[in-house]
Amino acid sequence: MRQSLIGNVKTVVAITGASGIIYGIRLLEELEGEKALIITETAKRILEAETSYSVSDVESLADAVYHEDELFAPVASGSYRFQAMVICPCSESTLAKVSQGIADNLVTRAAAVCLKERRKLIIVPRETPLSAIMLRNSLRLTEDGACILPASPGFYPKPQSVKELVDFLVGKILDQLDQPHELFRRWGD
Ligand SMILES: Cc1cc2nc3c(=O)[nH]c(=O)nc-3n(C[C@H](O)[C@H](O)[C@H](O)COP(=O)(O)O)c2cc1C
Repeated sequence: MRQSLIGNVKTVVAITGASGIIYGIRLLEELEGEKALIITETAKRILEAETSYSVSDVESLADAVYHEDELFAPVASGSYRFQAMVICPCSESTLAKVSQGIADNLVTRAAAVCLKERRKLIIVPRETPLSAIMLRNSLRLTEDGACILPASPGFYPKPQSVKELVDFLVGKILDQLDQPHELFRRWGD
């Protein structure tokens, strides 16, 4: 755990155990402002399986790092005034828990805080195909104010690399956070 910063976190980024960990890494690289990172144990294993980054490489991109078990961390409380949370990628397991109000680790608790405090919660699921359970959970979260932003990049900017596809998705997340960026060419530009 690294806690170099207490009190100024603007955005909580959670990386959970779904494929597409690179989306969360690129988000951490591009996101402005103080950020706290929670990376689940399953996500750490998938990170090693599908990227060349180490866990410490990823943790070094954040201002504060918490373990998923740290339910006494500041971001577990609504009285700690972070502005937004992005779960990227979000496993369907974590999505299901958040949709049902289960707050059993720091990821699901911080997400529950976002919903109850009416803060921005952006959830980036990566699964296909989707069961009716998954679709119902996503609908419930949308109705409760979260933004479901599936990890499905657009192809209209004619991407030439995986990085461009990843950057398109990260740009869509930054749009939701009102952060200006030039990560992809917009339709009409
Ligand atoms: C290699 C691997 C890839 C996985 N990919 C996905 C995925 O893309 N989407 C998903 O919803 N679950 C995926 N899972 C399953 C989740 O990791 C599993 O449900 C886990 O309990 C999620 O825990 P977490 O959300 O606390 O990280 C994957 C598991 C493994 C081992």
